[in-house]
Amino acid sequence: KTVDVDPAAYDPGEHESFMHKEILEQPASAGRVLRGRLNGRFATGHLGGLNMDARELRAIRRVKILGCGSAYYVGEMGATLIEELARIPADAEAASEFRYRNPIIEPDTLYVAVSQSGETIDTLLAVQEVRRKGGYVIGLVNVVGSAIAREADGGIYLHAGPEVAVASTKALTNMFLGFAMLALQLGRVRDLSIADGRRLIAGLESLPGKIEEVLATEERLVAVAERLAAAESLFFVGRVRGFPVAREGAQKFKEISYRHAEAYQTSELKHGPLALISPDVPTIAIVPLDELVERNVAALHEIAARGGPLVVVTHEEVDLQGLEAERIVVPRAERELDPILLTIPLQLLAYHAAKQLGHDIDKPRNLAKSVTVE
Ligand code: AGP
Repeated sequence: KTVDVDPAAYDPGEHESFMHKEILEQPASAGRVLRGRLNGRFATGHLGGLNMDARELRAIRRVKILGCGSAYYVGEMGATLIEELARIPADAEAASEFRYRNPIIEPDTLYVAVSQSGETIDTLLAVQEVRRKGGYVIGLVNVVGSAIAREADGGIYLHAGPEVAVASTKALTNMFLGFAMLALQLGRVRDLSIADGRRLIAGLESLPGKIEEVLATEERLVAVAERLAAAESLFFVGRVRGFPVAREGAQKFKEISYRHAEAYQTSELKHGPLALISPDVPTIAIVPLDELVERNVAALHEIAARGGPLVVVTHEEVDLQGLEAERIVVPRAERELDPILLTIPLQLLAYHAAKQLGHDIDKPRNLAKSVTVE
């Protein structure tokens, strides 16, 4: 079997790094993962690679998502999507921990392994552990023919194209979209209405254009990133749908800027980390227009009262109640799909902070693109 290689994917062209090229490619790569996988007539996802019929999809009682690093965080976003749309209990776990706790594998659980490379050893061994005990695993994998893709019972290829930079961007966005389509399909064989199905399909189809809108704000983000780069330590906070976004934002920031970036649920701040807030510690807060917006804004006032500088990634309609903050506005999608649009500015903030600090952005110290040894 041969794999087609597009030499242009391995040439950064006019970009000064692969990471920048890959961030800007996202409208096109997001379009690719959706293509041919949305069924307008029945308002559902059309994921033939799952190798499961409607009866088997309906028999699923639980979803367990396994991945490492950013793939784990996007797995948390995926679990929320599945619970919201399909009302099936779902959670994500670090694949690197999974096999060490003698996990209980159940026949009516769908296991989902998420991996850009398809070669991450911890995720691969988690897949093998599940299959050894008779569980059914699907892969959300970018690299065609990779080890995880070969070992899984079925899957969704991400079609992000080759991702060269160590810090994952476009693959991660497509993982989110893969989860959204899976959640839609699982929801539509259950109680998700046709109206909601249509609403989500329209939302998904609008995402490439909205990602483009976020990318168009890059110049403004450069100035914010340069200020953040001066801080030794930063918090990223969010709640429910926004919390995995904060985790991914902190991950990206620490990977390439080497700054201490820590993610917390906004609601947990008062249970400890608020002690660290000071004028030297900026907080990047994820505040979508959702049912938690007022509580979120109130918590940010607590940070401001302690002199903590704030960058708020939010929607136009959100009233920050006079909060002194740098405001980064992203377009709204359907509420379930908002996390991915809130994630994109965090990629650019990390990128421009690392650039300001003069780091090797595509090959950060101590890290490999894919961790293939235990
Ligand atoms: C992402 O920016 C990281 N470099 C890292 O966390 C990565 O997502 C993780 O190692 C998993 O890689 P994979 O998707 O190839 O399995």
